[in-house]
Amino acid sequence: MTTNPSSSWNSADYTTTGAFVAEHGAAVLELLNPQSDERILDVGCGDGALTLKITEAGADVLAFDASPELLATASERGLDTHLGSASNMEFNAEFDAVFSNAVLHWVLDAEGAAQSMFNALKPGGRLAVEFGGFGNIAAVSTALRATLIKHGYQDLPDDHYFPSAEQYARLLESVGFVGVEAKVIPRPTFLEAGMEAWLRTFRNGLLERLEVPQDQYELIFNETADLLKPALFDPATGWWADYVRIRVSARKPTVD
Ligand code: BEZ
Repeated sequence: MTTNPSSSWNSADYTTTGAFVAEHGAAVLELLNPQSDERILDVGCGDGALTLKITEAGADVLAFDASPELLATASERGLDTHLGSASNMEFNAEFDAVFSNAVLHWVLDAEGAAQSMFNALKPGGRLAVEFGGFGNIAAVSTALRATLIKHGYQDLPDDHYFPSAEQYARLLESVGFVGVEAKVIPRPTFLEAGMEAWLRTFRNGLLERLEVPQDQYELIFNETADLLKPALFDPATGWWADYVRIRVSARKPTVD
């Protein structure tokens, strides 16, 4: 199974600090518009918080993720789960719709993911996905990189896929999708738990990958937050992350 080597998830942390991820899923859920007689694949369901909302529409949903830990939480929530990598899913023409929220930026083999999602759809099936688009978390990544370089970590991996609308539309069309509509939407995102908690939840995996000693994590995250304060901390409201989303819909042709 291929997983992003910079991703590492703590389920308890994700369901608290990361709760905003599912809360911001309303727009892509609306784009999906799930129907009660449909079978839907949720690619990268995480802890299943948003997947549950698809089931509330009456659809039969398969919750798919690469993290056994997050999938265990999804399963405890009563969801039908499947462990695997989004870049090589083995489904063949089984789903009326494929959905994904805040996940595809972790899948570096974007072409493999696009092809797998296409294969998973029945002819005429639809795709509704949202994830990090071009420019996503540019300030956060730059500050974390600067801090890591200062601490002697030079070989920093490019560990996310944040495409432009044109780039992603071309990719989907190259695997056979039609009717592709992709737009990039800047969405500054309020971090209720603050920047250091966000870094602990979402960037621990990068520090693990770089073999940073555990006792340096707090220092590195504190220094990163200090660098970001002038840009992303609003004294009136608190911390914001410079999120940019790409929201996409497309169809598999009726006859392929
Ligand atoms: C996001 O855009 O949702 C995201 C990107 C990288 C790390 C964590 C979250």
